[in-house]
This record gives sequence, structure tokens and C-alpha cells, in this order.
Amino acid sequence: MFMSNGAYRAMSFAVALSAATTTALAWSAEQPNLGVELSPAEIAEMNLTVLPDGTGLPPGSGSAAQGQTIYAVQCAACHGVEGQGNLNDRLSGGHGSLSSGAPVKTIGSYWPYATTVFDYVRRAMPYASPGSLSPDQLYAVTAYLLFLNGIVDRDQTLNETNLNHIQMPNRNNFVWAAGVSAD
Ligand code: HEC
Repeated sequence: MFMSNGAYRAMSFAVALSAATTTALAWSAEQPNLGVELSPAEIAEMNLTVLPDGTGLPPGSGSAAQGQTIYAVQCAACHGVEGQGNLNDRLSGGHGSLSSGAPVKTIGSYWPYATTVFDYVRRAMPYASPGSLSPDQLYAVTAYLLFLNGIVDRDQTLNETNLNHIQMPNRNNFVWAAGVSAD
């Protein structure tokens, strides 16, 4: 039988399509079988959420005095030695500037919760190797950022039970949605 090239191509496409459909039907008869079920321990390891009230903070502790070296080595190149900003965001100062014509938003002048600083740094910093700092290093570097902003003393030790008690300067200037409160 003579078949034009076009007709031949159309026929082999139809055959290929029906083969694919059959395979797909056979497949869907079984369970999707996608991925691997995680154990509670594996989920706990990946669940990094820290709430404003401190829920989810890991055990550990650190002070600004301890965090200074970590910051100098791991953070200063991008954020400036004193947190004044360099290649990337400024992390200190700007206090009281938010209602001025030239607001300077930093974690110190703007962010309402110290626990969010911890949460953010744990998830995202240092930029090239997030997740590389231990809980003690994270408490220490968070303390150092708060120290640069005049919020804690150099030797104040922060841990999983007191970080949520730090009063951030801009905490009370957020407007809460109906039914939601700051505490
Ligand atoms: C290679 C550069 C780099 C290094 C090193 C680095 N950061 Fe960052 N950092 C960034 C960038 C870029 C952003 C902005 C990310 C974004 O907006 O998605 C940022 C954002 C932040 C913010 C949020 C600032 C804001 O106002 O939104 C904090 C806090 C922070 N970094 C802390 C740290 C700490 C602490 C370290 C050291 C442990 C560190 N960073 C190391 C590049 C860096």
C-alpha cells in the first residue's frame, strides 16, 4: 500500500498516542506512588518555623559578645562591620526615622519581633550557606544584631525562653487586623 509521508506520520503518531494512553491508564490504576513518606524526625528537622511568641525556637544560647566574631567572619562583608550596610541591606540604625520623609527600614527600626530575626537568619543567612549556623551561633549573632541596634547589652545571653521577651522598638506601631492581637 502506498502512503504519503504525511499520512504515515499521522498514523504512527496515533499509534504512539494510544500506547501512551494505555500506559497512563495502567499507571493510574495503582496508587500515585510519588515521593517517600517522611518520618516525624525528618519533618521536625525541616520545620523551621519560629512564631513571634518563641514557639519553635531550638534550645541554645548566645550573647552579642560571642556573636561579634561570627558576624565579622560570616556577615560583615555584605552587611558592613557595624551593620551599616555594604553590598547588601543595612541591619542597624534608622530608629525613629519611619515617620520621617526619609524612612530607613532596618531589622532594628522596623521589625516587630526579635524571634523573626532569629527565624530569618536561620533560614536564609549567611546568603551562600543558609542553615550552616548552629543554634548557639544563631542566638549569638541575633544578639549581636540587636546589640548593634542598642536593643540588648553586649553580655546579655539570649536563649529559647527569653528571646520572645525582647521588646523591639517598632513593636507597637503595627496595625493589627480585626481579631488579631500583638501578643
Ligand atoms: C554574600 C552576601 C551576604 C552575606 C555573607 C550575608 N548576607 Fe544577609 N543578606 C544578603 C542579601 C542579598 C539579603 C537580602 C535578601 C532578600 O531580600 O531576599 C540579606 C538580608 C539579610 C537580613 C534581612 C534584612 C532586611 O531588613 O530585610 C538579615 C537580618 C541578614 N541578611 C542577616 C545576615 C547575617 C546575620 C549574616 C551572617 C550570618 C548574613 N546576613 C550574611 C546578603 C548576605
